Amino acid sequence: MKEKSFEITPWKVSGDIDYDRVIREFGVSRIDENLLKRFEKVSGELHPFLKRGIFFAHRDLDWLLSEYEKGNEFFLYTGRGPSGKIHLGHLVPWIFTKWLQDKFDVELWFQMTDDEKFYFNEKLSLEETNRLAYENALDVIALGFNPKKTIIFTDTDLAGALYKYAAKIAKKITFSMIRASFGLKESSNIGQIFFTSMQAVPAILKSEIEGRNVPCLIPHAIDQDPHFRLARDVLPKLGYYKPASIQSGFLPGLQKVEKMSASNESSAIFTTDSEEEVRAKVMKAFTGGRISVEEQRKYGGNPDICSVYQYYYMLFMLDDSELNNIRGKCLKGEIMCGECKEILINKINNFLKEHQRKREEARKEIDKYIISEDSDLKKLLAKKR
Ligand code: TRP
Repeated sequence: MKEKSFEITPWKVSGDIDYDRVIREFGVSRIDENLLKRFEKVSGELHPFLKRGIFFAHRDLDWLLSEYEKGNEFFLYTGRGPSGKIHLGHLVPWIFTKWLQDKFDVELWFQMTDDEKFYFNEKLSLEETNRLAYENALDVIALGFNPKKTIIFTDTDLAGALYKYAAKIAKKITFSMIRASFGLKESSNIGQIFFTSMQAVPAILKSEIEGRNVPCLIPHAIDQDPHFRLARDVLPKLGYYKPASIQSGFLPGLQKVEKMSASNESSAIFTTDSEEEVRAKVMKAFTGGRISVEEQRKYGGNPDICSVYQYYYMLFMLDDSELNNIRGKCLKGEIMCGECKEILINKINNFLKEHQRKREEARKEIDKYIISEDSDLKKLLAKKR
């Protein structure tokens, strides 16, 4: 998708994102009040990411809930392209996925696309993307996914089980479909052209294991939608359900309000950053503050363009009264940006201290989550349970 002011593709997100236009152009459905009510009825509670519109769109979520109510339980599928370190923005869909796993007590399949990042990144070797997959898995595990119900795998290590299904899917996809969805060129390497077949596979693995169709819900950031739009086209032709999906927006970088990017080191907070690094980055953050303290006291700040406020909104003040309180103070000029940044620094550092501890513990836990090197899925899951 490309127009003047912003761009969202599975490889690049930039500019000022207009989410209404995203909904129109991607052809996803907005999560409206009715659907939220329905969701709350089924799950018993709404996560702040739903109430605040951080997860704002879906495909077939209403269908998935109906199936669930009929007793047809779904499973979750999400993933990560291991191209570098994990930043706070990456955690948003995963935190939500963990909440969904807890609420519905369902299985999660987590795909690490080491192959994808190798195909799409000139500089990364396959050995490196594979190593990063295991390193990134620590961040996933640190979020507390249920080890009995979570299966993490890398594409290259589980290729024996995945390839058969990827082949069946690939045969139903033409080069022109890929060109239309992903904008690839004649000169693109053929791994890139094939890759989306691999990303479709986890949506059907559970159905294969059970020998019956099992509904699948894919929580993901909106940039991944082209993969799943294609998967929804193809999988019914092979006799499977269309996977349902639920889409989030992006946590902005600290410099200005756009997607946090791992390629801009100072605008992203990585899960492995030290307290000092966090402090330095937040101190440089773009805010909605006025040019002087006097002006700010007089006219107030503007939280709606402020990256610090976005961090509160999306991750660090999920309690509404706390958020509204700081918003009110900002608007009335009762708090200066320096003080507000201090609050955020503390919150991020408290979170990271815990996260980093759990991340290190995860090194011992990783075998409970990862499956690899087995072409027989049933055997493979028997081993897990
Ligand atoms: N392609 C995704 C990325 O680059 C990784 C991924 C694989 C994924 N399967 C997924 C993301 C399912 C969300 C849902 O990050």
